[in-house]
Amino acid sequence: MLRLLLLLSVAIALSGADEQITTNSELDISSCPITYFGQKYERVYVNVTSENVVICFNGYYDPQNKGDCLVRPGAVRINFFNYERDSKFEKFFRQNLPSISNALECIFVFSDYSVDFWIANFGSQAALLVVFGSEGTVLTDVLVDGNKVNTVNVTNTARIFKFYGSADLSGCRHSGVLLRPGEVSSDPETCFSLNCSQTAVLQTSTCGPLERCQGNGICSSDSLLDTICTVTGPAVIDFHGQQNSVKDRCSYSLLRIPSVPDFQVLANFQERHRKDVSFLDSVTLRLNGSGVHIYLKQGGRVLLDDSALTLNSSVQTVRGVKLSKDQTGVTAKVSLSNFKASVFFDGSTAQIHLEGPAGQSLQGLCGNSSRSLSKERVSEDSSTSCEMQYMDSNDTMINCTKMTERCNLVKEAPFSSCDIDPEPYISACIDTLCSYSDLDHLRCQFLEAYARACSLKRDTTLEDWRSKADCSPPGAFCQDRTCSDHEFCGEKTAGGETRCFCRAIFASKYRKINSLGDPPVCSENSASLSLVGCLLEDKGIDYSVLQLKEPTCRGQLDKQTHMVTFSFNSANLCGTEITNNNSQVIYKNTIMSENLSSGGITHQDQVYIDFSCIQTQPDMQTVVFRMKSSSVVQVISSGPWKCSLTMKAYTDPGRTQAVYSNTEVLLNQKIWVELDTDGLDEKLVALVTDSCWATDQASPTGGRKYYLIKNGCPNSEDQTVRVEGNGEGTSNYFSFNMFQFTGSSADLYLHCKLQLCDKQENSCVKNCDGARKRRFARSNYEGAAFISMAWTT
Ligand SMILES: *[C@@H]1O[C@H](CO)[C@@H](O)[C@H](O)[C@H]1NC(C)=O
Ligand SMILES: *[C@@H]1O[C@H](CO)[C@@H](O)[C@H](O)[C@H]1NC(C)=O
Ligand SMILES: *[C@@H]1O[C@H](CO)[C@@H](O)[C@H](O)[C@H]1NC(C)=O
Ligand SMILES: *[C@@H]1O[C@H](CO)[C@@H](O)[C@H](O)[C@H]1NC(C)=O
Ligand SMILES: *[C@@H]1O[C@H](CO)[C@@H](O)[C@H](O)[C@H]1NC(C)=O
Ligand SMILES: *[C@@H]1O[C@H](CO)[C@@H](O)[C@H](O)[C@H]1NC(C)=O
Ligand SMILES: *[C@@H]1O[C@H](CO)[C@@H](O)[C@H](O)[C@H]1NC(C)=O
Ligand SMILES: *[C@@H]1O[C@H](CO)[C@@H](O)[C@H](O)[C@H]1NC(C)=O
Ligand SMILES: *[C@@H]1O[C@H](CO)[C@@H](O)[C@H](O)[C@H]1NC(C)=O
Ligand SMILES: *[C@@H]1O[C@H](CO)[C@@H](O)[C@H](O)[C@H]1NC(C)=O
Repeated sequence: MLRLLLLLSVAIALSGADEQITTNSELDISSCPITYFGQKYERVYVNVTSENVVICFNGYYDPQNKGDCLVRPGAVRINFFNYERDSKFEKFFRQNLPSISNALECIFVFSDYSVDFWIANFGSQAALLVVFGSEGTVLTDVLVDGNKVNTVNVTNTARIFKFYGSADLSGCRHSGVLLRPGEVSSDPETCFSLNCSQTAVLQTSTCGPLERCQGNGICSSDSLLDTICTVTGPAVIDFHGQQNSVKDRCSYSLLRIPSVPDFQVLANFQERHRKDVSFLDSVTLRLNGSGVHIYLKQGGRVLLDDSALTLNSSVQTVRGVKLSKDQTGVTAKVSLSNFKASVFFDGSTAQIHLEGPAGQSLQGLCGNSSRSLSKERVSEDSSTSCEMQYMDSNDTMINCTKMTERCNLVKEAPFSSCDIDPEPYISACIDTLCSYSDLDHLRCQFLEAYARACSLKRDTTLEDWRSKADCSPPGAFCQDRTCSDHEFCGEKTAGGETRCFCRAIFASKYRKINSLGDPPVCSENSASLSLVGCLLEDKGIDYSVLQLKEPTCRGQLDKQTHMVTFSFNSANLCGTEITNNNSQVIYKNTIMSENLSSGGITHQDQVYIDFSCIQTQPDMQTVVFRMKSSSVVQVISSGPWKCSLTMKAYTDPGRTQAVYSNTEVLLNQKIWVELDTDGLDEKLVALVTDSCWATDQASPTGGRKYYLIKNGCPNSEDQTVRVEGNGEGTSNYFSFNMFQFTGSSADLYLHCKLQLCDKQENSCVKNCDGARKRRFARSNYEGAAFISMAWTT
């Protein structure tokens, strides 16, 4: 007694942060949670009335409700204390309650200075100590689900120094059944049994996934197989309830039955937002050896080999497979000799329900997920890059404690009414949600998979688990949205719209260089640049507001790849700037937001992507021309004048380095061609070069033709041609850059048509710059002379 009094005084001395409770209060005890008969609580609700004090854990006391409460009549106020662990208290509790074997973790106390309630957390166990300091009797009722399970009677008389009482508050509960520590219960009909350990830890057991309850509490494994394999996210929970995780982006065999070689189910994994977490992406049924494939894809798409199938809720039989689709997903059912398999896929979870004779060894990850993963890997092609492992930075926003609590919902009602072992689902859920953000319905995906397994296997529909777990009804999530191979469908906003996101590994090569697309593709007369649709969306950029310099040049969205391509070509340059540098021609354009060009304002992210194509001019070293017939001399005799005409080629502007038949001339090298006459009076006549052209054949009119001079003026399309002194005197010359007909013989023939002009009656100089072309006085032209020279490589 003395010792207890001492303890009490210590306790009161410690109570620095006591809190007075005179009315009804809700208190946070999360720093010292209590597992009250198997149910863990982090809050208490205190009702203080003139008749009694009621301390409840699951909401304010209401005699109508099934409260978990401690009720003691007669009190007016209460003080609330909170204590740390102290071994002196532990010993005292243990002496009074030998059934408590766990270590004390913490205690909290309610006190009105006359009566103290000491409530202690012993991990999975809990205990109550009622200490009464005045004379009289204090009776405290212990209620579980509203039922009185114990009464603590503390009677204090001056003569009997017994003024404390205690109760063990430990136990286990399952679907409304309360078990005291050490108690077991089982249902022979279902073989489902509960075992509450001495330390109040509940163990449930049932027949194995490949067993059946015979109705007498005995499980048998001999006759029929009725089992489920679940693949969700990276996790595979096989027919035996073992769980494993796929870490790469390969295809795996899920199921193959040795006696039914024509049928195989494969699962294909891909990454999503993170490079290091893979998700089930599609399911493939291989029929008839591997001759026929049915692909169950994202968005509810189903392909038979290459052709898409349109499915609805009515069953459609394709190659012996009964296919149907509803708002939850696609189901494929097959009968294979004495087996029946049903494969369901909703875009994130696949479930195979297999019924048939037991005792067969089932192959694939569903047969045994603990087998070496590499043995079940199926390489569709020889590339093994799917096995490559990637690292990604940890997501510090993930609260693993919170996610673990979330995953553990599978242990609680209404899930607990299903007798499928929840552990593999919980560990798959925790593994995924502690390494990958809670996106795209992931928080419900594992609960959904468990609930679905229950309804498939045991025909148990879990009551209203969605509202309890805050999960929206099954369905339309990403149904009928088709993303390309480098994308996946995900939520744009939590619980809202969906869109196609870039897969992490695909996107990383762009993000690394901060690029939105591929390098430009340049060809002879066009150029294009493709931007990645999902990267644009990530940045909130609507591709339809983008343009090239010319506003009418917009991006084209490819419906399949979701790439947005901008292009220009020689027919429509789209505002391309062309610059020339001796060795290169540069075509430059810009993809920009439409309002950048108009100078307007916008609230959208601005895009400004310069891109250019560079065309390298032909290499000057490759072609060497030699003059076939060097200087050409021709005597012309026409009208009143007689003279000889010479045509000579030079490699310098001063026309001192003549080109002879052994002189090498390079492609693009500048050549000066002089046309000279002899025997004319410069005062009277002028030599006019009317036109000069090149052909690839000896005849001036045969083959392909290219003009250097036309109507006395340089061909405006060839910037390299210069004409000097035309019509001024009895000689003139022009220059041009050596060229070659593409795809033709190497020979090049140069022809000129020359005329003599009477200077006294005409202006023989032609104005080639003026807008208005002056006409030659044709009457004085006394016929024309032709002169030609030939070149070869
Ligand atoms: C307990 O307190 C709550 C909240 O104030 C109140 O609604 C309820 O009636 C009280 N119950 C009793 C039995 O006093
Ligand atoms: C409480 O205990 C006292 C003393 O042992 C006894 O006299 C009394 O009847 C008990 N009261 C109840 C309600 O059990
Ligand atoms: C209950 O569980 C305990 C501890 O795991 C075990 O020793 C005991 O045999 C079990 N009881 C039954 C009936 O299965
Ligand atoms: C199965 O394959 C065989 C040969 O590989 C072929 O003859 C047969 O038509 C196929 N059956 C179906 C249903 O595709
Ligand atoms: C389902 O599709 C089939 C064939 O495409 C069509 O004949 C049938 O009417 C559809 N049923 C429903 C319920 O839409
Ligand atoms: C699954 O395979 C592992 C490794 O080969 C083996 O240890 C285990 O016993 C197998 N499990 C079953 C149920 O066959
Ligand atoms: C990420 O977290 C894991 C486990 O929590 C840890 O082992 C690893 O070192 C972390 N990696 C980085 C890059 O922080
Ligand atoms: C994580 O979640 C738990 C439980 O919901 C919460 O108590 C804790 O404060 C959270 N931690 C952080 C760092 O947010
Ligand atoms: C011109 O060509 C040279 C050599 O190819 C190149 O290095 C240079 O960048 C070009 N100049 C411009 C302005 O593009
Ligand atoms: C561009 O600016 C015009 C006005 O200058 C405005 O009407 C239009 O909505 C803007 N477009 C975008 C995409 O912001």
